[in-house]
Amino acid sequence: MSDRTSSISTPNGKSSELPVLSGTHGPDVLDVRGLYKDTGHFTYDPGYATTASCKSAITFIDGDEGVLLYRGYPIEQLAEHSTYLEVCYLLMYGELPNPQQSEEFNSIISHHTMVHENIRDFINGFRYDAHPMAMLVGTIGALSSFYHDSLDINNPLHREISAQRLIAKMPTIASYCYNHYRGLPFMYPDNSLSYVENFTRLMFAVPAEEFEPNPVAVKALELIMILHADHEQNASTSTVRLAGSSGANPFASIAAGVASLWGPAHGGANEACVNMLDAIVNSGETIEKTIARAKDKNDPFRLMGFGHRVYKNFDPRAKLIQKMCHDLLNELGGDTPMFELARKLEEATLADEYFIERRLYPNVDFYSGIIFRALNIPMNMFTVMFAMSRTVGWISHWMEMHEDPEGRIGRPRQIYTGAAKRDYPV
Ligand code: CMC
Repeated sequence: MSDRTSSISTPNGKSSELPVLSGTHGPDVLDVRGLYKDTGHFTYDPGYATTASCKSAITFIDGDEGVLLYRGYPIEQLAEHSTYLEVCYLLMYGELPNPQQSEEFNSIISHHTMVHENIRDFINGFRYDAHPMAMLVGTIGALSSFYHDSLDINNPLHREISAQRLIAKMPTIASYCYNHYRGLPFMYPDNSLSYVENFTRLMFAVPAEEFEPNPVAVKALELIMILHADHEQNASTSTVRLAGSSGANPFASIAAGVASLWGPAHGGANEACVNMLDAIVNSGETIEKTIARAKDKNDPFRLMGFGHRVYKNFDPRAKLIQKMCHDLLNELGGDTPMFELARKLEEATLADEYFIERRLYPNVDFYSGIIFRALNIPMNMFTVMFAMSRTVGWISHWMEMHEDPEGRIGRPRQIYTGAAKRDYPV
């Protein structure tokens, strides 16, 4: 409880003493919970841009300074020193694992990688050309019908087992969604491989041939997964919390998060970026013309993969992924016209006054889209990759929410603008 308050007067002549809350980092927050009781007024904040929906100790972002911390650790340091599974452990349990904890966690996760055989049949029931995200959202929801031995949300052990199952099974399910779409056989997981190596095998191996994970691809994917593991109260994470606040089971709550991520304004931006680059290459438009269109206020065209709502200085994830992207393109080659265009666009915008003034830098989606293309990951799998990486963030928030003594069902209010009360015409 805060010992500082801020007094607020409302137009009806009433007032309220609002407690001022402070976090470890970030601006102070006015606790408006007593406002309605004291004054009869609600607050109005569509999009929740100035509303803290919860207290959380998981991730901190400072958009002006370009800071991203998981459990206090800068993303740059985690990207350099950690594996994805160590980051999962950190997000879930709050501390980095020691070597023994790390080994135990790896072992637990690898022993949950297989899915019930009927889940393979379940995925086979989707139309042959279903979008992998459509299959993913349905299959994650369906997990509660397979793993109902761990669905007691009031039991901390059940919550933990469900979290471990989700992290472990996500690569298997994600790859099956892709393999079904391609008409390829479903591989079983190989628990002798690392988490990311196993995923590349599930995606790209076929039973008829030996498969050797490509270390360049594994390194790039490991980085992308670390960078996407959590991003505090974004739309999909808030969706998971809201769905879970009613007591919905973890699989249903995470399925809600997957559905929210699916939208182009959230998880779909890297796909939009690669689509844009393809369209420019195919049309033969020059860089100059493309940039002129992006600046023209009469043209709705925007450069996809540029700018960010929160990071107004730079996106620390973009800096890390940019280097990886350049290294990868030098090493792998690939779709040369598209990669050439991306490089020139990056160079040209970084030197252009319009983009400099508005702080519009290439964002994480610009580079992840290009990396996925270089790794031959099809475009309709981009958001699935994001969902797989973010599952640990979602489930860590879901677990934190269930441990929060102040937790209540999420239930926003509204300003009613419909018809005034009237009588039924008789
Ligand atoms: N291309 C050209 N101009 C742009 C762009 C762009 N991509 N983004 C912003 N602007 C201009 C905009 O026209 C405005 O100009 P002016 O001040 O002259 O009116 C100014 O920059 C500020 O734009 P805004 O729309 O107020 O900025 P915002 O913070 O509301 O929007 C954004 C952020 C990410 C929605 C936007 O930059 C955008 O649409 N980018 C392209 C889509 C994209 O890459 N999205 C992924 C973002 S990262 C997602 C994640 O972290 O998961």
